[in-house]
Amino acid sequence: MSRKVLVISGDGIGPEITTETRKVLDVVNARFDLGIEFDEALLGGAALDATGIPMPDETLSKAQDSDAILFAAIGGPKWDDVGRDLRPEKGLLQFRSALELFGNLRPAILYPQLADASSLKPEVVSGLDILIVRELTGGIYFGEPRGIRTLENGEREGYNTYKYNETEIRRIGAMAFEAAQKRGGKLCSVDKSNVLEATILWREIMEQMAPDYPDVELSHMYVDNAAMQLVRAPKQFDVVVTGNMFGDILSDAAAMLTGSIGMLPSAALDKNGRGMYEPCHGSAPDIAGEGKANPLAMILSAAMMLRYSLDAVAAADAVEKAVGDVLDQGLRTGDIYSEGTQLVNTSAMGDAVAAALQA
Ligand code: IPM
Ligand code: MN
Repeated sequence: MSRKVLVISGDGIGPEITTETRKVLDVVNARFDLGIEFDEALLGGAALDATGIPMPDETLSKAQDSDAILFAAIGGPKWDDVGRDLRPEKGLLQFRSALELFGNLRPAILYPQLADASSLKPEVVSGLDILIVRELTGGIYFGEPRGIRTLENGEREGYNTYKYNETEIRRIGAMAFEAAQKRGGKLCSVDKSNVLEATILWREIMEQMAPDYPDVELSHMYVDNAAMQLVRAPKQFDVVVTGNMFGDILSDAAAMLTGSIGMLPSAALDKNGRGMYEPCHGSAPDIAGEGKANPLAMILSAAMMLRYSLDAVAAADAVEKAVGDVLDQGLRTGDIYSEGTQLVNTSAMGDAVAAALQA
């Protein structure tokens, strides 16, 4: 099979963690004879600097020509003043939308070796394994009309539109129900249907779909309560499905339950399983270039890519095991460091994972 991977290293710590992830992928590529061919492209601030726009056509056409996309992170204060439509984030949103990557899988798994790194009590988080399924190409992020307009009285008003149509709700619902079938059989749909019509429809469609998945137990929760429950008793959840903005917020909170957002991978999938794989964290411009970033979230994203888009399950298992091995060895970047462990820099962490794979 063809295994073409487009690598987008982006901004901030992106290039550093990409280098480490490539080290690891080069090892599995050879060891499992995967025949992955890599190409590179620009997105976000790096693209803006080089071409004047945050998502060049060339990047999109290379992505369309790939089996999977491995993405690091974009953005930074350097581009704070470039204007709304040129922002690096805009490039990422256009990219997700153009590729119809509507289904965002964001797992939050606590590694037993990192139980101390969580800000919550060990008994609240030990064994935590939840999956947030975030709708990624609709909702208030994309709804029209949107903008900043001047009112008759001369004052300005910012406005956005929160909407979801039935097709959008059904396709993310199906992805979430199917994920729940493969996991613990529980799906919690998060909405704000006590206030927002768009989510009244959301809840109605989820209910309509439920009989098609008799092995999944569907429940509903308002987003404010879900935020509270995530920090009160996160292990009550198995799969959570929600819209774009609620998912953005809840997945950051869920990530932190595991001690560090620097450990969490994610996948953004289209209806055919083509995906973009990226760490949940951002470009961390404050530590860029210092060798402090944790490359494990991107390395684990590469493992997800091997599993879901490249039909290389054994290689994915091996990468995940190698990450567990380096944690067992006590190696930690600053974000997951605790007393008694060994602080290492970005490249030492990548080297250790690559070495564990060869062992
Ligand atoms: C994320 C990020 C993006 C989002 C930003 C950078 C546009 O926060 O992937 O969660 O809000 O979707
Ligand atoms: Mn986010």
